[in-house]
Amino acid sequence: MARILVTGGAGFIGSHLVEFLLKEGHEVLCLDNYFTGSRENLLHLRDQPRLEMIRHDVVEPVMLEIDQIYHLACPASPVHYQYNPVKTIKTNVLGTLHMLGLTKRVRARILLASTSEIYGDPLEHPQREEYWGNVNCLGPRSCYDEGKRVAETLMMDYHRQNRVDIRIARIFNTYGPRMALNDGRVVSNFIVQALSGKDITIYGEGKQTRSFCYVSDLVAGLVSLMNCEEQTEPVNLGNPEEFTILELAHKVLALTKSASTLVYKPLPADDPVRRRPDISRAKAKLGWQPQVLLEEGLKATIPYFAEKLK
Ligand SMILES: NC(=O)c1ccc[n+]([C@@H]2O[C@H](COP(=O)([O-])OP(=O)(O)OC[C@H]3O[C@@H](n4cnc5c(N)ncnc54)[C@H](O)[C@@H]3O)[C@@H](O)[C@H]2O)c1
Repeated sequence: MARILVTGGAGFIGSHLVEFLLKEGHEVLCLDNYFTGSRENLLHLRDQPRLEMIRHDVVEPVMLEIDQIYHLACPASPVHYQYNPVKTIKTNVLGTLHMLGLTKRVRARILLASTSEIYGDPLEHPQREEYWGNVNCLGPRSCYDEGKRVAETLMMDYHRQNRVDIRIARIFNTYGPRMALNDGRVVSNFIVQALSGKDITIYGEGKQTRSFCYVSDLVAGLVSLMNCEEQTEPVNLGNPEEFTILELAHKVLALTKSASTLVYKPLPADDPVRRRPDISRAKAKLGWQPQVLLEEGLKATIPYFAEKLK
């Protein structure tokens, strides 16, 4: 049994990770400022004696005795991270600095939840970890993309300078139950629109592609990365199967049996045209690859949103 800190543990991915770690028998400290997460996400675990909830903002330092840190604290969807871009940068930079300082002090191991956004609008397909990316440092997404890039740099520098034991997960689009209703990302948007009989909004012509990873697959990847021996270099975690946005819309329409119609709107600034992970490194080093097909994952996600919309 280990004592494990999950920052952002009350969020979408964090709450699934907390649940998984508790099932594995660990003691879990969930640290969150509840900006986009909520206690409701962990309500079903409230009687778990091995779970401790800490209300704290990672922008401020914290001292805890722990063996591992999963550092997830950061709003993930554009509507949320653009709400206060300066705070998003602080969360990424100061938050990661504080977590690295803590890791160093207590000689723990830290995993950073980085993102495929560090590849920007990629000029290489699929994206391998060696690719340096094509990121606009001035755009509305930069607070998040560049924030995560600096967070990765901090991880590498603490490792080189102080031998801190680090893991970097580059997470690609993940979906599943407990995504916020107002998350604004494509899977939740489409499901909510379809279930409430509203028009389904397609940005551009809908030919841009995305890959979608179901949350249980992602959690399994994060845990294998944390526990594998020596993996300082970043590892892509995502589902390599590519779908156009139109294909996703049609799947959601069919599974929700919705009569919603598709409407087309202009593409937002810096919206990447294609993004798909190359997961060869995860396969080779962790023996990990996603198991859940898009259709199965959507079937498991739709009832969650249906319940929320009641
Ligand atoms: N969901 C995805 O598709 C995806 C893709 C790539 C990377 N990620 C990364 O994974 C992590 C989790 O994402 P998610 O989808 O669960 O998002 P989320 O918004 O549901 O969760 C983020 C959590 O962090 C908390 N938080 C935010 N700022 C904080 C702060 N300053 N101090 C303390 N807590 C704070 C929020 O309250 C929330 O509980 C994020 O770091 C995100 O960048 C997610």
